[in-house]
Amino acid sequence: MHCPAACGGELNPKRLMKKRFLGNTGLAVSEVGFGAWAIGGIGYGEVSECQAYNCLETYIEAGGNYIDTARAYDESEKYIGRILTKYSQNDDLIISTKTTKGFSAESIKDIRKELDCSLRMLKRDYVDVYFLHNPPEDSEVIKRVLDQMQELKFQGKIRTVGASIKSSKVDDNTVNLCRQYILTGKVDVIQVIYSILRQKNASVFKQAYEHGVGIVVRSVLESGFLTGKYNIGHTFNDQRNRWSREKLDFILGMVADIKFNSKTQEIMTLGQAAIRFVLDNKYISTAIIGAKNKEQVMENILAANISPINKKLALKLKGKFTHIDNLFNP
Ligand SMILES: NC(=O)c1ccc[n+]([C@@H]2O[C@H](COP(=O)([O-])OP(=O)(O)OC[C@H]3O[C@@H](n4cnc5c(N)ncnc54)[C@H](OP(=O)(O)O)[C@@H]3O)[C@@H](O)[C@H]2O)c1
Repeated sequence: MHCPAACGGELNPKRLMKKRFLGNTGLAVSEVGFGAWAIGGIGYGEVSECQAYNCLETYIEAGGNYIDTARAYDESEKYIGRILTKYSQNDDLIISTKTTKGFSAESIKDIRKELDCSLRMLKRDYVDVYFLHNPPEDSEVIKRVLDQMQELKFQGKIRTVGASIKSSKVDDNTVNLCRQYILTGKVDVIQVIYSILRQKNASVFKQAYEHGVGIVVRSVLESGFLTGKYNIGHTFNDQRNRWSREKLDFILGMVADIKFNSKTQEIMTLGQAAIRFVLDNKYISTAIIGAKNKEQVMENILAANISPINKKLALKLKGKFTHIDNLFNP
């Protein structure tokens, strides 16, 4: 594990977990959030309840206070509910979960039922951020769904309304959809893909910030590819097998290129550089990173206290890959 020189060689991450405001919500979230998809135990291959618990415990004990989950992440909400019982005195913990994926005008009425189910699993009376998971694009459906979310907010079941914008494909439509949600004035937080390899969504960050909308970024490690531990030809038996061989090798080749050219390895791991890259954007509130064991959790958390990536490298990485955003679409 790399310990940044800035912390004087001590591994005391509690001191390192700086917080940022989540837009105008009044909530302050750790710069490194915990993405709880992998601990659900299916998406990223088998993860036992014990492993999941270890990850969550390590994250919270290290001073992390923001956990992102979803109805769709298998056992994830249930495991989080169990750990929250242990930390019931810690009222600093901020939890976001999501509606089930996909929307039609007819499914709006099911949101309340889904939320009640999440609350039961999480053993909570409310969630801090309730995200629409891959939210609708039709303006009439958007209006109706956001009215429903406002009602849940009014009833105290959710503290803030979020929109977690689309998966895989990041293109002009994605950016426009982000703008559409920001401009409704009824969304407190957006969650978007942002990484060294997919930077297109950065074009809405300033606007979101100016409208008081918190920005949560995900896929910062690009499903683990950006740690540099997978080589061209690697095969996956989990959700990562959705990419064709050709696309996967293209992505892994890009990562190998960054690894070779960035020369960050002396001061931090490639994964930490990928986390640092997104945290260096001042508009971002938090980066949610998935992890399957406590070593990964610690390595990711420690990235928050590494000095910003030097200007020369940042310039090299910024914009370099924007032309490939689309190629992530399996
Ligand atoms: N539509 C949506 O709203 C949506 C979609 C996707 C994700 N999300 C959210 O975003 C979060 C983050 O995305 P993600 O979990 O898919 O991907 P990610 O954070 O880019 O990558 C997570 C994976 O990378 C590997 N990893 C993590 N830290 C590592 C380290 N220090 N060293 C080596 N490997 C490491 C682990 O898998 P291996 O060890 O198996 O490689 C881990 O499961 C999710 O957990 C979820 O909360 C939301």
